Amino acid sequence: MKVITSEEMQKIDHAAINNYGVPGIHLMERAGEACADAIRSRFSTATRKSVLIFAGKGNNGGDGYVIASKLHAFGWDVSLVILAHRSDISGDAEISLSRLPNSVMLKCCCDNESLAAFSDLGQYALVVDAIFGTGLKSEISGVYRQAIKLINSSGLPVIAVDIPSGVDGNTGAILGVAIRADLTITFAAAKLGHVLYPGAVCTGELMIADIGIPSEVVQRAHGYEFVDAGSATALLMPRLPVSHKGSFGHVLIVAGSTGHTGAAVLAGASAVRSGAGLVTLAVPSSLNQIFEIKTTEAMTLPIEDAGRGYLRRESLAHILAGLAGKNVVALGPGLSRQPETALLVQALLTAVSLPLVVDADGLNAISENVSVLGKRAASVVVLTPHPGEMARLTGLSIAEIEADRIGVSTKFAQLHKVYLILKGARTIIASPDGEVAINGSGNPGMASGGMGDVLTGIVASLIGQGYPPFNACRLAVFIHGYAADLVAQEKGEVGLIASDVVAKLPVALQRLLR
Ligand code: ACO
Repeated sequence: MKVITSEEMQKIDHAAINNYGVPGIHLMERAGEACADAIRSRFSTATRKSVLIFAGKGNNGGDGYVIASKLHAFGWDVSLVILAHRSDISGDAEISLSRLPNSVMLKCCCDNESLAAFSDLGQYALVVDAIFGTGLKSEISGVYRQAIKLINSSGLPVIAVDIPSGVDGNTGAILGVAIRADLTITFAAAKLGHVLYPGAVCTGELMIADIGIPSEVVQRAHGYEFVDAGSATALLMPRLPVSHKGSFGHVLIVAGSTGHTGAAVLAGASAVRSGAGLVTLAVPSSLNQIFEIKTTEAMTLPIEDAGRGYLRRESLAHILAGLAGKNVVALGPGLSRQPETALLVQALLTAVSLPLVVDADGLNAISENVSVLGKRAASVVVLTPHPGEMARLTGLSIAEIEADRIGVSTKFAQLHKVYLILKGARTIIASPDGEVAINGSGNPGMASGGMGDVLTGIVASLIGQGYPPFNACRLAVFIHGYAADLVAQEKGEVGLIASDVVAKLPVALQRLLR
């Protein structure tokens, strides 16, 4: 699914009006009609056909005036509250308002006192929010704030027009206060604010209605890809009937240290469960016995560690020798933050020409000298930071990263010519060529230890199987979240553990293939 910015939507509107001769008033009519049709069909069994519409003075309000007229024509009892003086309304919105039948109850409320008349909304079946669309420019205050609080506390179903009022269309941020809608009906394409948190929560169910904008105009918008089950399925490569373990790659995972053997085991298991032909864990030799017991399908390559329980710069030659026959390397899960381990990571970056997936302590090692990315030997490098690791990589604060997840990821990926997976609610996947995708799967239960190690294993596994890197990254992130969603459906989100996600990976893949 394509997701666009507010500015792109404005350009789409303008192109439809100015280049294709679709009058703005027609777009408004179609938008209002689409909402009225959706309300009529969804509430066909409601005993009270009674609706309260809150509208602003802009074009989003104009959509609301059309909804009032259409629902009235369908025989509904309609009350329209405009949060502005009638004289403030102009253009297409004014035209729509002039068409409102006299029998629609209309009240202009410009202050909190006049809004007090609507303290009891028990007579209505639902509320429509047409206060602000993408024209919202700043924090909401005054009568708008009061109206939004009133709607949210009404307990009635809430339908938002275009975007819930108060949600920033580009970031999903809440500008002071925002409508919590059950259903949001938007037009032409989803906006970033619908899918990014916390806007995604305010949006509720999202419906995209056609308002007669020529499809090529929408297609021309650059937008962002929102990875959902449909797009993940399209990325999956079928397995040929005649294949063998050599057909699906051999992943080398450089991982593990005292106290962190589980990270390495999880990464190995997830690589196996996501379809890798062979997986080898390069681990400190003093811990090898543990890995021999904990892993079954994955092999181990014990690297001499002089009993230290972590890998060191001295391990480089042994690890490089272990690259024979491998086609991708994952570097980082549970490696430790020992300075000697960081030196090893930096040395491996400059020496390994196979595709590299770097996570966890691998990222911490790079953070100490980010310029090492410019000296790396591999043409394909995938970094999978969470916001804390991203902060260390960039020198930005976590708050700065969270405020602009897409912008920060895109810039870093292009600057350092890496594939960047910025983890979090709505993981961002950015390519060195400027492509950006937003992941649609996953749930809060994934905020538990070991989840990142599982993702690392899946990314490496898919690259090893021959997926192009950007496809591997998008697909891995989606499958990871999707498997966790399946686990959450069965067992709930609280107590969801990384091993359960690993176990569910084959089912997730199977569901997507269906
Ligand atoms: N507090 C108070 N007022 C505010 C705030 C705030 N924090 N922020 C913005 N406003 C005001 C603005 O000043 C503006 O008022 P003004 O027009 O008097 O300056 C008003 O709120 C704008 O609000 P919106 O209705 O959100 O913005 P706009 O008029 O640009 O309409 C639109 C947005 C086009 C409807 C958008 O949501 C969209 O693209 N929708 C999908 C397509 C659609 O509905 N098309 C039909 C109409 S298209 C057309 O006629 C061009």
